[in-house]
Amino acid sequence: MPEAQLRRPAEEIYADELAALAKGDDRARPANWKLSPQAVVTYLLGGKASDGTPISAKYVGNRRLIETAVATLATDRALMLLGLPGTAKSWVSEQLAAAISGSSQRLIQCTAGTDENQIRYGWNYALLLAKGPSREALVKTPLVRAMEEGTLLRLEELTRMGSDVQDTLITVLSEKTLPVPELDIAIDATRGFNVIATANNRDKGVNELSSALKRRFNVVVLPSPATLEEETRIVVKRVGEIGGNLSLPPIQPAEKELARIVTLFREIRDGKTLNGKTKLKTSTGTLSTAEAISVGVSAWAEAAHFGDGRIDANALATNIVGAVVKDPVQDSVALSEYLETVVRTREGWSDLYEAIREVI
Ligand SMILES: Nc1ncnc2c1ncn2[C@@H]1O[C@H](COP(=O)(O)OP(=O)(O)OP(=O)(O)O)[C@@H](O)[C@H]1O
Ligand SMILES: [Mg+2]
Repeated sequence: MPEAQLRRPAEEIYADELAALAKGDDRARPANWKLSPQAVVTYLLGGKASDGTPISAKYVGNRRLIETAVATLATDRALMLLGLPGTAKSWVSEQLAAAISGSSQRLIQCTAGTDENQIRYGWNYALLLAKGPSREALVKTPLVRAMEEGTLLRLEELTRMGSDVQDTLITVLSEKTLPVPELDIAIDATRGFNVIATANNRDKGVNELSSALKRRFNVVVLPSPATLEEETRIVVKRVGEIGGNLSLPPIQPAEKELARIVTLFREIRDGKTLNGKTKLKTSTGTLSTAEAISVGVSAWAEAAHFGDGRIDANALATNIVGAVVKDPVQDSVALSEYLETVVRTREGWSDLYEAIREVI
């Protein structure tokens, strides 16, 4: 395994778990799936393989959502994971592709600049000029490769690309074929091909899905974690995994500090304290679970390299301010108000009050 690689794909990180699940998996598998649907769900939510190998939970949340997502992929409908930023849409999409197809690499990042050629196919112009249109001159996109191989294609942030480009997918999704008129051929999808798209419903600059395309997707909405405990559990787990992958120097367990980040984020995000007694201003940032995880990892790096190996208020302060204050005027006011009305008087939080006051 290449140690130098900054981020390894899910199928490499969890190769042992996937192998253990596949070995004892005697249930029916849809064509070209590496695992049965039940084993895919176990892989995502955690449990035990039949030989006793422990399977870690990748997604923390409602089992039914994951079951629906997996079941959808076994049909001829595509899957759309929808939700607020930081609700693990991309993460779940990567894990599903890794478990079902053995590879999460067939991926297209959709942006406002994505054009049809990046979805369908392009041409190698040197070959095109030298020899004219031919199969060799065709530049295959991840979509074409996924169709040929019968694997899953991941479309990240589908609604960021223009609606006209999105509609390129209609024929592919309903007819499972991609015509190449220049060569008078069609590329047919192999069994096992399907699409997982992600889209978030909060960001600015997104394009509506056309209703023709909407009908071809089953939508699964990934919610924000319901409770403080659940969100803290996710943050503690992911900070540990990400920091470990980054080989950050070990530090003291930091569950309590991470729980403080989550509390603070949830309160500002919801515009009220956890007990519902004090109303607060919300910030313009999303303050999602994903951002709490980033603050945790950055605080870890800071504590390990510049502190005493323990995440404390000082390691948290600048990172928290950076996450909360996205709009220098509005968010500074919201954070100041929160500091004065909540943090200052809360038992055991005076260190955080001092540390944040020092940096804003
Ligand atoms: N319920 C959850 N279970 C496990 N991990 C979670 C959960 N919610 C968030 N995470 C973690 O949050 C991080 C960010 O998730 P991800 O990037 O997939 O979010 P996203 O929904 O794609 O956001 P965006 O809309 O910004 O692209 C990941 O490391 C993921 O593991
Ligand atoms: Mg994403």
